[in-house]
Amino acid sequence: MAYPYQILTEEQYHEAWNKSVANPEAFWGEVASSFQWRKPWDKVLEWNFEEPNVKWFIGGKLNITENCLDRHLAVNADTPAIIWEPNNPDEQDRVITYKELHHKVMQFANVLKNNGVKKGDRVCIYMGMVPELAIALLACARIGAIHSVIFGGFSAQSISDRLQDANAEYIVTCDGAFRGNKEIPLKAVIDDALVQCRFVKKVIVLQRTDTPVSMIKHRDVWWQDEIDKVEEMGNPDCPAEEMDAEDPLFILYTSGSTGKPKGVVHTCGGYMVYATYTFVNVFQYQPGDIHFCTADVGWITGHSYIVYGPLSAGATTLMFEGIPTWPDAGRFWDVVDKYKVNILYTAPTAIRSLMAYGLKPIEGHDLCSLKVLGSVGEPINEEAWHWFSEHIGKNNCPVVDTWWQTENGGILISNLAGVTPSKPSYATLPLPGIQPVLVDEQGKEIIGNNVSGNLCIKHPWPSIIRTTYGDHERCRTNYFATYPGMYFTGDGCYRDEKGNYRITGRVDDVLNVSGHRIGTAEVENAINMHEGVVESAVVGYPHDIKGQGIYAFVICTNTHGDDNLMRQDIMQTVNRIIGAIARPDKIQFVSALPKTRSGKIIRRILRKIAEGEMSNLGDITTLLDPNVVDDIKKGRI
Ligand code: PRX
Repeated sequence: MAYPYQILTEEQYHEAWNKSVANPEAFWGEVASSFQWRKPWDKVLEWNFEEPNVKWFIGGKLNITENCLDRHLAVNADTPAIIWEPNNPDEQDRVITYKELHHKVMQFANVLKNNGVKKGDRVCIYMGMVPELAIALLACARIGAIHSVIFGGFSAQSISDRLQDANAEYIVTCDGAFRGNKEIPLKAVIDDALVQCRFVKKVIVLQRTDTPVSMIKHRDVWWQDEIDKVEEMGNPDCPAEEMDAEDPLFILYTSGSTGKPKGVVHTCGGYMVYATYTFVNVFQYQPGDIHFCTADVGWITGHSYIVYGPLSAGATTLMFEGIPTWPDAGRFWDVVDKYKVNILYTAPTAIRSLMAYGLKPIEGHDLCSLKVLGSVGEPINEEAWHWFSEHIGKNNCPVVDTWWQTENGGILISNLAGVTPSKPSYATLPLPGIQPVLVDEQGKEIIGNNVSGNLCIKHPWPSIIRTTYGDHERCRTNYFATYPGMYFTGDGCYRDEKGNYRITGRVDDVLNVSGHRIGTAEVENAINMHEGVVESAVVGYPHDIKGQGIYAFVICTNTHGDDNLMRQDIMQTVNRIIGAIARPDKIQFVSALPKTRSGKIIRRILRKIAEGEMSNLGDITTLLDPNVVDDIKKGRI
């Protein structure tokens, strides 16, 4: 059985795309009418990219949790909504039906209310990959609170920066999280973060690892105690708050080319429609399919394709707490066979790290339940694409290479599984509603095929970023000012002879390390916090597993003859300021950086040296001191 808006043939895809461009309002109005609205919208779209001001489904009222939960109860109450596979394969898994999830979300929504959370309040969620994480998101949405999930790998400092930016007075966390053979002390990290955030009123703590934690009187409460209180009160129901289509649903912080992460804001109506539409169409979801997205809910992929997209489509979504290589490198394949997974959506870095173990971990696995494979987060190299398709998909599953960004809410460019053709290392064609354009440095549109340029999008889609929290001007300058009248993605792109798009990577100072976005300025700021550091410059270099590695050129006052100790110390500093994901892979101590006479660091030269391309460094005559370059070349690691 297909969804009313499901595209089933290549011809239908072209029809849908043409219609979405000729008349976006009619197109999206029709898609949106398949959802449950308390009150229909008065007007589909109002927009300008100058401010920017984008509004979808104006005047429409809804609650996304009624779409993700209540509307499935009539016929799908006993369908599994979430299947949870724990980190430790010996621990009991969990299956939560739609009926149970509905109940648990209402219970926790009441817990939030009892603890003072109101519509519009910001709730920070810092948890491991347990079902309660999804429950916490949905409970916020149920009462109209704005969730802001922070990935469990971020440091106390990163958390407190984000808490302050969002002025989030409520936190939901766990005592700890299991990841492979590690235990991450989430609550202790929160406690450190809160030293600088006295405005936080409540911390709700879920017990997961049973690690001893300190609970602060009047501030910290246990998840289970609070649930018990709600149960004792006798009425666990929690009616959904009526939300405007344009009320914020969540904030998610992401890195840009400037130092401070930005709080990307998504709103209720447009985000719901686009995440669900793309989920159904890209993966060609059929009711009954088991969908396994391996991302963490701390990133946008988890928001859209573990929680909101699948649940709004009434799908069964599999949440995995662990990592692909523990207890061994066959763990993903164990999970696929155990639950007969039909759709596997993962990242190139995971594929490459598993490729490094050879084919042995795949042996003994059936994998024949798989119908669709997906990739996201960074460009997928052809070798990884073929390995995935051949050894996991047994040449029998379409691979969708899905390109999109935190700011987009959902997939913008991808083939549709089994419906439109794939091409290794190409995201291929835009989804209906998406009008990609390539522009040159001057902002002139590059017409025709077999061309490269900077990737922009011409017209809004329902889940485009609305603002950056607390600083609308930042949203304008980051995305809408570089090329007036267009949304600028920050990615470089090639269009082939058939109009297929191939994303070639960032064109700004943003790195993509294991599919995680990290700003070079952010890493530099962290390195510069070390008292022995005078200045630093960070660039990316090709890394076999991570896609990009982090290479830092650092000027120190004095390493006291022990470069390695200093390196470790600097890495520790980055760990503390941002988190382990931003730790440099290589640190080279230098006596000077290549600068122009006006003091600007020429990163192009550093990038080439980091990449090992020493001979063709381009014009270095504009440098204040060209000799610097030779010294840096000699010291390369
Ligand atoms: O450079 C692109 C890369 O990841 C960036 C977005 O990162 P983030 O907001 O963290 O979201 C990641 C998951 C949606 C993009 O600007 N990227 C993402 N998917 C692809 C990709 N690059 C190439 N191919 C992809 N499929």
